[in-house]
Amino acid sequence: MHSARPFRAAPGSRGVFPAAPAVLALALNAIALAAIPAAFAADAPADQKPLPVALVNALNTLAGGPHAGFRANHAKGILVTGTFTPAKTAPSFSSAPHFAKTVPVLVRFSDTTGVPNIPDASPDASPHGMAIRFKLPDGGSTDIVSISTNGFPVGTPQDFLALLTAISKSGPGVPKPTPVEQFLGTHPAALKFVSTPKPPPQSFGSLAFYGVNAFKFTNAKGVSHFARYQVLPVAGEHALAAAETTKADPNYLIDELPKRIAAGPVKFRLVAQVSKEGDVTNDATAVWPPDREIVELGVISLTATEKEQAKEQKALLYNPLSLTPGIEASADPILAARPPAYAVSFAQRAGQ
Ligand code: HEM
Repeated sequence: MHSARPFRAAPGSRGVFPAAPAVLALALNAIALAAIPAAFAADAPADQKPLPVALVNALNTLAGGPHAGFRANHAKGILVTGTFTPAKTAPSFSSAPHFAKTVPVLVRFSDTTGVPNIPDASPDASPHGMAIRFKLPDGGSTDIVSISTNGFPVGTPQDFLALLTAISKSGPGVPKPTPVEQFLGTHPAALKFVSTPKPPPQSFGSLAFYGVNAFKFTNAKGVSHFARYQVLPVAGEHALAAAETTKADPNYLIDELPKRIAAGPVKFRLVAQVSKEGDVTNDATAVWPPDREIVELGVISLTATEKEQAKEQKALLYNPLSLTPGIEASADPILAARPPAYAVSFAQRAGQ
């Protein structure tokens, strides 16, 4: 049994050519890895490893990994398919092709941590993940990679590494204040993040997901807005009751979703929360107030469960910066740091 070091406060923490995902992912991976200096070599001291490598190593340490063939984070998951149908309001918000035409989607729901068999109701399995690949009419694709919390514990990849490292150094028997207590004591956003209750959901289909990082959306007239994605369950948000949580099957979320889909399409509204003048767009800890304008982008309708789960999940690499004209990245350093780290993790599970 793989055990995860808690992501909680201490007590008292793919692409452009969908047809050939493996080849594409390898290409993407090669590009990202090429960007990593030679220090990637195994003998580079830990504090001199390139940041993407150090981040993946820290995630592996927390998960007792690397676990062969599995992601260094969000290792446990399930793949489903369906369609995305754009709302009437979408084309005037961005000229992106999938905002003008219904397209197929490939969606992976997941639990947090690199632990392949983490119990779905474990507090460490949250925030859960929802990665969405929109297959575009020209044969390309674009991704959204979101989590079930509206915000992130830190604003820079360096602070993320510091948090992961502090957690891994705060095991049982470590004198107080432990490194993670010290970290949370000096990072209020991280303390708020880990202290916010995240009750296990009844289903992946009754959980809201958030893009967290901002993107710039531009329409055909050249009008732009910064916004953040929200993926909202049409069935509403429903959590397990406390009594159900204690006796939940370790795989209750993974087992429940195919049954729910077999009973009828599982739907989500994709919306954009639009920033207002003065809102911070390059810091994932700066959550915007709920009164900001919401633009309907469309509806995701999930109708089937993939057959070859293990094989397909292993070959799939989602990339939050796999964008399409009409959508651009913000200057959020967390967003920029994700694809290189994902590529390192992909290289590991592709056996490189
Ligand atoms: C610097 C910050 C981050 C680092 C270092 C990081 C690292 C990772 C790694 C290594 C993976 C495994 C990738 C793979 O093997 O394919 C992963 C997956 C994932 N991450 Fe992140 N992540 C970061 C920030 C975020 C943020 C801000 C979000 C959400 C808004 C997020 C959501 C996800 C999801 C949903 C997956 C699973 C994707 C899939 O199903 O394949 N991550 N992350």
